[in-house]
Amino acid sequence: MRGAILRAMGPHITKAVIPAAGLGTRFLPATKAIPKEMLPVVDKPAIQYVVEEAVGAGLEDILMIVGRNKNALANHFDRVAELERNLEVKADTARLERVNYSTDLADVHFVRQGDPKGLGHAVLRAKKHVGDQPFAVLLGDDLIDARDPLLTTMIEEQERRNATVIALLEVDPDQIHLYGAAAVEPTENPDVVKVVGLVEKPDRADAPSNLAIIGRYVLRPEVFDVLERTEPGKGGEIQLTDALQVLAADESIAGGVYGVVFRGRRYDTGDRLDYIKAIIQLAVDRDDLGPDLRQWVKQFAAGLSDQIEGPGTGH
Ligand code: G1P
Repeated sequence: MRGAILRAMGPHITKAVIPAAGLGTRFLPATKAIPKEMLPVVDKPAIQYVVEEAVGAGLEDILMIVGRNKNALANHFDRVAELERNLEVKADTARLERVNYSTDLADVHFVRQGDPKGLGHAVLRAKKHVGDQPFAVLLGDDLIDARDPLLTTMIEEQERRNATVIALLEVDPDQIHLYGAAAVEPTENPDVVKVVGLVEKPDRADAPSNLAIIGRYVLRPEVFDVLERTEPGKGGEIQLTDALQVLAADESIAGGVYGVVFRGRRYDTGDRLDYIKAIIQLAVDRDDLGPDLRQWVKQFAAGLSDQIEGPGTGH
């Protein structure tokens, strides 16, 4: 339905770029031989949630920017004839459906990043594949709950404003140094802000706000030219945030930058503690695992209650 309406308005976004070339050092040794994107979140690799999100927003042409460990990612979205036959013989249709679903989900392409020179550099590797159309970028460390369709809203805003659209989340000011931070002005829509400045991972004292960039972007192709001219920034890496700052500062390049303020459910799988929390949060909501797990979590938490030392401990 939505697709039909947008098609009637003109060409629409079909491509999603998923940078997946990080070394995953925070999860070593689990990520010694497989990319961190393949770590299971309940019973699916993290990357499958991200591809499902893109497909759910109508983007079925996926380009992954990968590192040396790409084989597991490519295999995951490909047929495994032997496994399919095995499940067929056993008439295990439920599992067979789950396997086939991940195979048929999308048209997944791969390009190597070569030297990992930062997120901006990874996105620039998509230039040839993307061509001259707007496209989405989804980062695998942030999982967005399928019940809170952020990307669809962002695509609609991109098409309405013909600008760059990023996702923003209000975070605790103590956490802003972990993110790109945005200086913003209100628009007519309380959930959409105009982005007038961006800083990559500022100290708390220098942050323009506590609005953090979370890993969803809908970009115009002009970003590639800007990225080509972007010098290494924070951490010596070519930062996507720095290129977006150029677009925010000069609307004549590509219509400026807007932020959709996300108020839904997001799960961070970027570090070990958040990853564990994400698994529990997602599993308690599942029909198959939720009822038993909820009960167990309650009992387990009750057993822990006299050991709790207060928030922030354990970091
Ligand atoms: C990247 C971006 C940062 C953004 C973050 C969201 O950083 O550079 O601006 O806030 O993703 O997850 P990373 O977490 O990859 O270091």
